[in-house]
Amino acid sequence: MLSSAALPDPQPSATAPADRYAVLGNPVAHSRSPWIHARFAELTGQALSYGKQLCPLDGFTATLADLRRQGYRGCNVTVPFKFEAFAAATDTSERARLAQACNTLVLDGDRVWGDNTDGVGLVADITLNAGVPLQGQRVLLLGAGGAAAGVLGPLLAQRPRALVVSNRTMAKADALVATHATHAKLHECELTSQSQQALECVFDVIINATASSLDGGEVPVPASVLRPGALAVDMMYGPAAQPFLDWAAHHGAQGRDGLGMLVEQAAAAFELWRGVRPPSAQVLADLAALLARPAAH
Ligand code: ATR
Repeated sequence: MLSSAALPDPQPSATAPADRYAVLGNPVAHSRSPWIHARFAELTGQALSYGKQLCPLDGFTATLADLRRQGYRGCNVTVPFKFEAFAAATDTSERARLAQACNTLVLDGDRVWGDNTDGVGLVADITLNAGVPLQGQRVLLLGAGGAAAGVLGPLLAQRPRALVVSNRTMAKADALVATHATHAKLHECELTSQSQQALECVFDVIINATASSLDGGEVPVPASVLRPGALAVDMMYGPAAQPFLDWAAHHGAQGRDGLGMLVEQAAAAFELWRGVRPPSAQVLADLAALLARPAAH
């Protein structure tokens, strides 16, 4: 989620006093969420403001308390505070409980409603924006950290035929499978873990939720996992996603970065806060065009 081009600000759209929202993270300077939410507000005529809050690493609880005192109506939470956000919530959605992490909080007096829209955002990007169904497919999820945990429940709810979680540290993949076993059964999906070296099957959809590219690592699985024409999605975007996209293209798969997921998880949060569905496909197209534009000098 890493690109540094400057974006022009969408125009504030309404004259009513704006409800306030923010994204909390560390780091947070790179976040595109303020731009995305301002554009949603502009296109739906909602009166809101949305800022960035850099949280000290030991200061999530204090920062959240401060926002509540100031009357903020909600916030998004990004790395590394999604687990603390879950702990801070007074009520949570089922998908947040499955992930044990929240990326979206609704602040309502004494109540803090915690949700996680990362998974539905990824699913919407794959099924609606990329037009690839997940039902009945074979899906490979690479990684078993916070990013993978955040999306597994909603992926299973799409009823893929089989979903394999594969991670460098097998114990973490096993743990993720164990916490989702009941949910997988409910949706009639065969959920298993496999070591990266032992992967022999071919998959229709491969999702990279590892941080391997951030430390310059190679894609940690053999290209034989890709069915010809498979969809290969990296949850990152910008330069961090490029090695995975190159790998996918080189081996005959359709690569896709995490920009669509970013916009769709924001759209789900916006709908939760405002009760209005923003035109996410349009905003994704706008954002992709802006990020592709050479920086002005
Ligand atoms: P995030 O919140 O982004 O998921 P995380 O919880 O630290 O961050 O998880 C990072 C994921 O990337 C893990 O699945 C990690 O594998 P381990 O559980 O074995 O640590 C994976 N990862 C990080 N660097 C990797 C590399 N060079 N090769 C393969 N997997 C890597």
